[in-house]
Formats: sequence, C-alpha cells, structure tokens
Amino acid sequence: MRKGVLLSVVLLLCFAVAAIAVPSGRTLEFDKSPMGTVTFSGEIHKNAGVSCKECHNKDMFPKMKMGTVEIKMDAIYAGQLCGKCHNGERAFEAKANCTRCHKK
Ligand code: HEC
Ligand code: HEC
Ligand code: HEC
Repeated sequence: MRKGVLLSVVLLLCFAVAAIAVPSGRTLEFDKSPMGTVTFSGEIHKNAGVSCKECHNKDMFPKMKMGTVEIKMDAIYAGQLCGKCHNGERAFEAKANCTRCHKK
C-alpha cells in the first residue's frame, strides 16, 4: 500500500515537471553575445499570437532544441531568423532596439 502511494506521488511529480516544461511558456537564454544575454520568452511570443510553425520551420529554427542554429546579427538585419519579424513591421526593429533583447 505505502509503495503504491509513493509511486503515485512520484508519477504526479513527473507530470508536474512535464507541465512546467511546456515549451510555449519556456524561457531560453542566449548568452554568447558580448552585448549581453538575450532572453527569449515563449510566453511573450505566444501571447503576441506567434505560432510554433512560424519559427520552427526549415528556414528558421528547424529543431525544437537549444543551440542548433547559430544566430548572428547579420542574419537578423537581413530579415532572417529573429529578424523575420523584428524588422519594425511585425515587431520592434532590431537595429534600433539592441537593449530590448540584450540585457547586461
Ligand atoms: C518566435 C520564435 C519561436 C516560436 C514562436 C517558438 N519557438 Fe521554440 N524555439 C525558438 C528558438 C530560437 C529555439 C532555440 C533553437 C536553437 O537554438 O537552435 C527554440 C527552442 C525550442 C525548444 C527546445 C528548448 C530547449 O531547452 O532545448 C522547444 C521544445 C521548443 N522550442 C518548442 C516550441 C513550441 C512547442 C512552440 C509553440 C508553442 C515554439 N517552440 C514556438 C523559437 C521559437
Ligand atoms: C514570427 C515573428 C517573430 C519572430 C521570428 C521572433 N519574434 Fe520576438 N516578438 C515578436 C512579437 C510579435 C513580439 C511582441 C511585439 C513587440 O514587442 O514588438 C515579440 C517580442 C519579443 C521580445 C520582447 C521585448 C520586449 O521589450 O517586450 C523579445 C526580447 C523578443 N521578441 C526576442 C526575439 C528573439 C531573440 C527572437 C529570435 C530567437 C525572436 N524574438 C523572434 C515576433 C517574433
Ligand atoms: C530581436 C532580438 C535582438 C535584437 C533587437 C538585437 N539582437 Fe543581437 N543577438 C540576438 C541573438 C538571439 C543573438 C545570439 C546570441 C547567442 O548566440 O548567444 C545575438 C547576437 C549578437 C552579437 C554576437 C553575434 C554577432 O552577430 O556578432 C552581437 C555583437 C550583437 N548581437 C549585437 C547587437 C546590437 C549592436 C544590436 C542593436 C543594434 C542587437 N544585437 C540587437 C538578438 C538580438
């Protein structure tokens, strides 16, 4: 009996952890830039009406995995990757807003 209770507690914990890991609510940290860490919020993007597929497609971020695509500003300024939207139309322009992404 005790074992059964323990098992269900463990199972519940697993589900709780899985729920916290729901990607749309995730935060990713890109900390390789000398300009300061870029914190990407899944929540903000979801609330702005951006779907998974708009970013997770073969031209942008094919894999749902951290660190598979190298993000360079040249690409962003050219309208690729984050720059697909951060161009002053769909979202704030990257060139004029360094510190809305990069935080020291
Ligand atoms: C605005 C762009 C964008 C949207 C929208 C987006 N993602 Fe992502 N996601 C990314 C980027 C960028 C990465 C990191 C990719 C890399 O480093 O190669 C990532 C990584 C991930 C990861 C891996 C996280 C880790 O810790 O390794 C998962 C899982 C994921 N996304 C799931 C989703 C799901 C599910 C949705 C829709 C609810 C979604 N993403 C919407 C941009 C986005
Ligand atoms: C499919 C479109 C799209 C892509 C791609 C995208 N974003 Fe966004 N992002 C948005 C929208 C829309 C908002 C909310 C509106 C706004 O703040 O202009 C937003 C908001 C943000 C914010 C919040 C800033 C603030 O001051 O509130 C950050 C930071 C951000 N994005 C970083 C990124 C990064 C880093 C990437 C690439 C990994 C990325 N975004 C890719 C559409 C996108
Ligand atoms: C939409 C979000 C966003 C904005 C706005 C932004 N960056 Fe970035 N930047 C990133 C991301 C994401 C990376 C990748 C960081 C990593 O890999 O850890 C990056 C990387 C960099 C790098 C290192 C790679 C490279 O291309 O040299 C530099 C330097 C940099 N940014 C400078 C800037 C400057 C200067 C501005 C403003 C003129 C700016 N960034 C605006 C998201 C942004």
